[in-house]
Amino acid sequence: MHLHNLAETNSILNTFIAEMRDVNIQKDTMRFRRNIERTGEILGYELSKSLNFSNKEITTPLGSANSNLISDDIVLCSILRAGVPLHNGLLNYFDNAENAFISAYRHHKDNPESFEIIVEYLACPDLNNKTLILADPMLATGQSMVSTFEALKPFGTPKNIHLVSVIGAQEGVDFVSKHFDTNTHLWIATVDEALNEKGYIVPGLGDAGDLAFGQKLQH
Ligand code: URA
Repeated sequence: MHLHNLAETNSILNTFIAEMRDVNIQKDTMRFRRNIERTGEILGYELSKSLNFSNKEITTPLGSANSNLISDDIVLCSILRAGVPLHNGLLNYFDNAENAFISAYRHHKDNPESFEIIVEYLACPDLNNKTLILADPMLATGQSMVSTFEALKPFGTPKNIHLVSVIGAQEGVDFVSKHFDTNTHLWIATVDEALNEKGYIVPGLGDAGDLAFGQKLQH
């Protein structure tokens, strides 16, 4: 897997990540959602450099100009619900992309420290020969990303796969790199050291879904 960790280069992205992590600033839910969305825009821009392009002649009011334009058919797939602002950020740039949504959540049976991933809702276009961008803001264990990909398999075989995440744990990065093809790219804003016993990224930022959309009752 090709890992693109944007934290290796200082940029304005550091500010957005710091604001998302900050226990006081993250209470501003609109800013939190917007920072995830802005991160999606930046990751999308970086990812776009590795897509395929073809030359097109564009007619301007004064003549014609040659432009290299993206020739890949993109399908953007996000995991509900925390993935929604990241999806919006990517869609702001890949505005002609087709879209897929999947609900995947952690189901804790008896032991609060162990869980299985339950996939319930799935809406997806044909994936054959498309470029699939799979977005999950928190790459903790990596199990949601892998379960989602397994659930998408009946919809066809994509030509290229790009994984997009805001914050990852090293364990999650290692897990997805074992499960995805070596040609897969992972675009991530930063990678943290650890996961706690409940599967949360440390230092991380907390629960991205709750911070973006409010707390939920446990089921
Ligand atoms: N999901 C979150 O929202 N936060 C984590 O730290 C891990 C998974």
